[in-house]
Amino acid sequence: MSPWSRAGWLATPGAVLIAFAVVQAVTGAFLMLYYVPSPDHAYDSVRFIISSPAGGWLVHGVHHYGASFVVVLTALHLLVSAASGAFKRADRRAWLTGVVLLLIVLGLALTGYLLPWDQRAYWATVVTINLSQLAPGAGRLAAAALRGGETIGALTLTRWYALHVIFLPAALVAMVIAHTILARRRAATVEEPPVPFYPEQAARTAVIGLLAGAFLLALARHGAPPLGPPADSSDTSYVPRPEWYFLGLFQLLKYFPGRYEVLGAIVIPALAVLALAALPWIDRRPERDLRRRPLVAAGLAAVLLAVSALTVLGWRDRPPAAPAAESWTVRAIGGRVFVERHTCARCHVETGVADPLEALRLSRGPEWTAAHTSDPEMIAPGLREPPAPVNEREIAAMVAYMRRLSGEPYPGFPLRTETAAAVFSRYCIGCHTLDGDGGKDGPDLSRIGRKHDAAALSRRIADPESVDPKAEMPSFGSRLSADELAAIAAYLAARR
Ligand code: HEC
Ligand code: HEC
Repeated sequence: MSPWSRAGWLATPGAVLIAFAVVQAVTGAFLMLYYVPSPDHAYDSVRFIISSPAGGWLVHGVHHYGASFVVVLTALHLLVSAASGAFKRADRRAWLTGVVLLLIVLGLALTGYLLPWDQRAYWATVVTINLSQLAPGAGRLAAAALRGGETIGALTLTRWYALHVIFLPAALVAMVIAHTILARRRAATVEEPPVPFYPEQAARTAVIGLLAGAFLLALARHGAPPLGPPADSSDTSYVPRPEWYFLGLFQLLKYFPGRYEVLGAIVIPALAVLALAALPWIDRRPERDLRRRPLVAAGLAAVLLAVSALTVLGWRDRPPAAPAAESWTVRAIGGRVFVERHTCARCHVETGVADPLEALRLSRGPEWTAAHTSDPEMIAPGLREPPAPVNEREIAAMVAYMRRLSGEPYPGFPLRTETAAAVFSRYCIGCHTLDGDGGKDGPDLSRIGRKHDAAALSRRIADPESVDPKAEMPSFGSRLSADELAAIAAYLAARR
């Protein structure tokens, strides 16, 4: 008896899949005890689950990696069923429900990805919703339905949450029941009796299930990968990447730029799903041996090859990391100077109530960090020291510094540069722009070194009216020390 024709090891993914779906349901239910589906709290609630000592991190880790297992097992089950011709033994509608199940599983994975509300989640969702907009005819409607409101925000999150915990799981349960019933219904052409599940097949399923479970626990042992920075809708430079099983699709999109995007985003995937669903009508002969079904064998091999190749290419095609020193903005560099001035080290030291600043991995949003920086007492009562009078620009600079520092260590800049950056981000950034960051009341200074040398710049900054009697720019001669004036003039003179 060929292993392809009767139940055997290859038939185990279907049953193991049910067990893993139950694991997802149970871990998901526990995550729901703490998760808050609102943009203000989602991130912190996930952070709490991960950092709470009571094993929340393990539950979260199992749920995270479990999703991959369910996706892989579903795909495997479908593949085995197609290759072995198992679908020919059952009602054709069993195959159709199987294809729908695959879509529901992918929907669950997609909606779950948004819930932590970190940068990764947010921007991947922006991409998904933009792609749904391409659907011919119903694009606007689909995007509006997925978004919930005018922009991606609270309504989007509650909507995806409801899909993730109610609508899709309910559809999944209904489909699994229908699928199981239909799959056990013999097709009219089949004479052989169904293979009993118990005891042999049950034992095989248990072995594979336990092995897969052990593998899942091994992966989840250290918890899921850490959260990214909190979602920040203003950071349009963020390059989103989907979860690995969507990388293939993501890669496919790259080959269809501009107005052809709809081909990669909608047309090709839709045709693939339709072709998959039509398999029992395409491959209708009772022949089940793959060696005598060359068309199906070739088709399956082609699909498998294409999906793996696209996934590998997508995996490799990461955005290049920005070179460290160049990506430090003048504001972030200036922030370091203010952080040193503001005695943050009172608490942020090895032996203090909080980790040293260099060791912090930012998890709070910019508002929290700004509020904390202006009055650290807010979160650490009992250590009250009247907050130093703080300047909003200094706070913005400190937040920029802390956010940058959370990404990588401080590369180190000459003292002069630091001083100039502090001057600029405290006094000038409101009116002048450097490298795209700053105000528009005065001219952009990104290339000002081409126009004036350091001595001329120094004069203009210290006393603009000495150069141009009608100057609108305030004079800084009395506000800056000689060192500061020399530093900012030299810094700007070097901008060419
Ligand atoms: C009174 C003590 C105290 C002072 C002073 C203080 N901090 Fe903190 N800071 C804390 C504590 C405690 C935490 C941890 C709070 C938490 O994560 O819940 C923290 C957390 C942070 C975080 C991490 C937030 C995150 O995203 O997880 C940043 C950034 C930070 N502080 C920056 C600063 C800066 C910059 C200064 C100086 C302007 C400063 N702190 C001064 C006590 C202090
Ligand atoms: C209140 C807004 C304002 C602030 C604050 C300000 N500037 Fe200006 N700056 C101007 C305007 C407006 C001009 C255009 C010339 C004029 O009307 O004075 C200018 C011109 C300049 C120029 C000459 C540009 C050129 O193309 O020739 C330099 C250099 C300059 N500013 C540097 C600085 C520096 C350095 C600081 C911070 C220490 C600063 N400015 C702060 C508004 C401002």
